Amino acid sequence: MDTKFLEKRRRDVMDQMGSGVAILPTAPIRNRNRDVNFPFRPDSDFYYVTNFSEPEAVAVLVPGRANGEYILFCRKKDTEKEIWDGRRAGLQGAKDIYGADDAFAIHDIDEILPGLLENCDKVFYSMGRYQEFDARLMGWVNEVRDKSRTGVKAPGEFVDLNHILHEMRLYKRPEDIRVMKRACKVSAQAHKRAMQICRPGMMEYEIEAELLYIFKRNGSAFPAYPSIVGGGANSCILHYTQNDAELKDGDLLLIDAGAEIDCYAADITRTFPVNGKFSGQQRAVYEIVLAAQLAAIDQVKPKNQWNNPHETAVRILTEGFVDIGLLKGSADDLISDETYKQFYMHRTGHWLGMDVHDVGDYKVDDIWRLLEPGMTMTVEPGVYIPAGSKGVDARWWNIGIRIEDDVLVTREGNEVLTREVPKSIDDIEALMKQ
Ligand code: GLY
Ligand code: MN
Ligand code: MN
Repeated sequence: MDTKFLEKRRRDVMDQMGSGVAILPTAPIRNRNRDVNFPFRPDSDFYYVTNFSEPEAVAVLVPGRANGEYILFCRKKDTEKEIWDGRRAGLQGAKDIYGADDAFAIHDIDEILPGLLENCDKVFYSMGRYQEFDARLMGWVNEVRDKSRTGVKAPGEFVDLNHILHEMRLYKRPEDIRVMKRACKVSAQAHKRAMQICRPGMMEYEIEAELLYIFKRNGSAFPAYPSIVGGGANSCILHYTQNDAELKDGDLLLIDAGAEIDCYAADITRTFPVNGKFSGQQRAVYEIVLAAQLAAIDQVKPKNQWNNPHETAVRILTEGFVDIGLLKGSADDLISDETYKQFYMHRTGHWLGMDVHDVGDYKVDDIWRLLEPGMTMTVEPGVYIPAGSKGVDARWWNIGIRIEDDVLVTREGNEVLTREVPKSIDDIEALMKQ
């Protein structure tokens, strides 16, 4: 494990803290049913500063602490439990492998943590994410407060750790980008595979199975979010995840799926005809979405505002709606009165990173943030025309199209990390014919 860049990362956090104690619990184990738990996924902030993937762990950062600034509470080694549930790093491993200065058993945290809070001025913590842990932390703080008559000072200030960590996570470092590129590559491969195998008569879940197969066999433990595999009418449902319908000749298939690798997400959408050939109406709408997406991607560059790609996409989509007769009027009016939202009701992207909708503010002082190298985002315009759409001829019904790529802001402009997946009509039809 490369602990050097993590050491630097923790140093950065502690430099910004100045003093005090930061407390980062990993995610809790969640029950699925009876004695079956959901697969464990570490908390993103916790993993960002530790790379420690075991459950039942808490990281504590104490800048300037003489006996070590980075303390990891984790499970002790236990020969019998490890036979049942798998290996543990243990306290020695926490230090030797993960670079902790000091390690304690998680079961001793109630005894040890209050001591770390004595005479510390500030506690840095992300309140409200894990209610049970919030309550435990308050208990520890109260324990220290109860000692005030002995001259011990309790922390007087709580600071939201999100401010520091989420601002850091917004700027991807080379180490992060390397992992994100792997997630994107695996996901791209899966989308290409889906285009190659898709045939009328298949079930949506058969396509989903292929995606998951490619993810898993390339080292992705889980998809970054539930895969959307929606044919025909289902392509118009933004968060469709049922994936249990038959794929019909003449319909479109919208797939929104991405692998998670080492806690980093990819997020790709492609839409293509189930039978490999776009119909006239499908082609017309697809060309509009693609033009909007390409123009929006062009807007991803340093010093542009976060909202520029969205504004560009909205403009091109709305002009397209007028061109093909879906809307009547001037594009300016249809944009200012938001009529375009009948067919395009979501935003054009979001930050991407350890969480698929990643952390980081979109506005600073109430103004859209300027893009800077290292920021990573999706660009994903779409058009959705469900059956029965008001004032729309039936030949346009059940066309749902989204095209989504993952884009890194670079010094020169941008890099599309998911460019391997075909998205022009010719390239898609050519791949599907093979
Ligand atoms: N897959 C979730 C999104 O595209 O935002
Ligand atoms: Mn997506
Ligand atoms: Mn997305």
